[in-house]
Amino acid sequence: MSTIDTLKDRTTPVFDPAAVTVIFVLGGPGAGKGTQCSNLVSQYGFSHLSAGDLLRAEQNRPDSEFGDLIRHHIRNGLIVPMEVTIALLENSMREILNSSPSPPSSSSSPDKTRRGRFLIDGFPRKLDQAHKFEEAVVPARFVLFYDCPEAEMERRLLERGKTSGREDDNADSIRKRFRTFLDTSLPVVDYFDSQRRVVRIDATPEPDAVFAETRRHLAERLGPEFA
Ligand code: C5P
Ligand code: MG
Repeated sequence: MSTIDTLKDRTTPVFDPAAVTVIFVLGGPGAGKGTQCSNLVSQYGFSHLSAGDLLRAEQNRPDSEFGDLIRHHIRNGLIVPMEVTIALLENSMREILNSSPSPPSSSSSPDKTRRGRFLIDGFPRKLDQAHKFEEAVVPARFVLFYDCPEAEMERRLLERGKTSGREDDNADSIRKRFRTFLDTSLPVVDYFDSQRRVVRIDATPEPDAVFAETRRHLAERLGPEFA
């Protein structure tokens, strides 16, 4: 991926923050990030980019030079080196921004605005990812943090594991993912929190109730269009 090489030395954002709105969506494994992102996509026309999904797709791409590296990290609940993940996100964002506009009837707001709205789910999971993305890709507006007790997340993941086919929805990988979350990813939430950029939402209730809270916070942060 050529983006990896250009990323290293880049010290200014490649996208214009006035044209591109990024919201980071964080939470422990099984907190419900993906579910809430789907709701936000249907309601507000965000583009949803899940870092984990992009990594799994890259892992399974036959010509990928990163397949084995990604598989190893995902199985062990470890964070894949940031250059890989950021390059995948940047490439996907560029593709969406350059894609042909959807027909006007498909949305009430101008397509341009909608194409520039991104939910980046499961990222940044480590401080270096946060710094590099904001420096070289685009600064995020804020973080939606879905806060959920570990016992509830474990229950959800084991339930999902019955049908998800994911190599990391098993008791051993789940334990490792929780450890990485506490040691490596929570400090990212604390970092944004120290800048007052975190919207914390209790993710314990059922999904509809969590979504109602999410909408309320979005309206507060982004204005009446999101009410
Ligand atoms: O978000 P999700 O649970 O799909 O992520 C699955 C795995 O992908 C993580 O446990 C981690 O190994 C990897 N990942 C990563 N860096 C990210 C997001 C996910 O290394 N920013
Ligand atoms: Mg997910």
